[in-house]
Amino acid sequence: MQGNFRGGSTSRWLGAALLWVLGVTPLLAADSNIVKTRVAGYREIGAAFKAINDQLRSGTPQPYLLQVSAREIANGTREQYRWFPAGSGPAPGVKTRAKVAIWGQPAKFKALQDNFAAKAGALAAATKGKDAARIQAAAKALGAACKACHTVYREEED
Ligand code: HEC
Repeated sequence: MQGNFRGGSTSRWLGAALLWVLGVTPLLAADSNIVKTRVAGYREIGAAFKAINDQLRSGTPQPYLLQVSAREIANGTREQYRWFPAGSGPAPGVKTRAKVAIWGQPAKFKALQDNFAAKAGALAAATKGKDAARIQAAAKALGAACKACHTVYREEED
């Protein structure tokens, strides 16, 4: 028992260091994974939007399929705000098409994210009704929101 008291200040220091390592390590790990999460998220959004456009082009769109895909995109627009933490931009060895300007122009970038969320919400709302022209127009507006951001903040594919 006495030994513990004598080593008190050292073990307090070690305890603090251990807590720091335990606290910080998961953050660092999450940071290197966030690019993967982001790319996977956009892929899901892309697949859902393709499903919607395929349905609309088919001439006989299934309301349920439109609704499910539109909801998936709307969910993605809520998650997108977590996909660009500081330090998750282009870096050696990181495969990302996100342009560094995203982190230099946070207000402009967020405005495009907000526009995306609004257009996805409008499409989700439209798919709950039977107005085909309204659904078509909402899908077109959503496509424009994707493009508005990609043109400025996403690198071309190599
Ligand atoms: C506010 C900006 C923004 C909006 C809006 C946006 N994207 Fe993107 N998107 C990006 C960025 C940035 C990347 C690159 C991510 C990376 O490589 O780290 C990307 C990547 C992608 C990818 C490529 C994923 C891969 O395989 O590398 C797809 C597909 C995609 N977006 C689809 C869409 C679709 C569809 C929409 C609209 C329904 C959309 N995005 C809206 C910014 C946006």
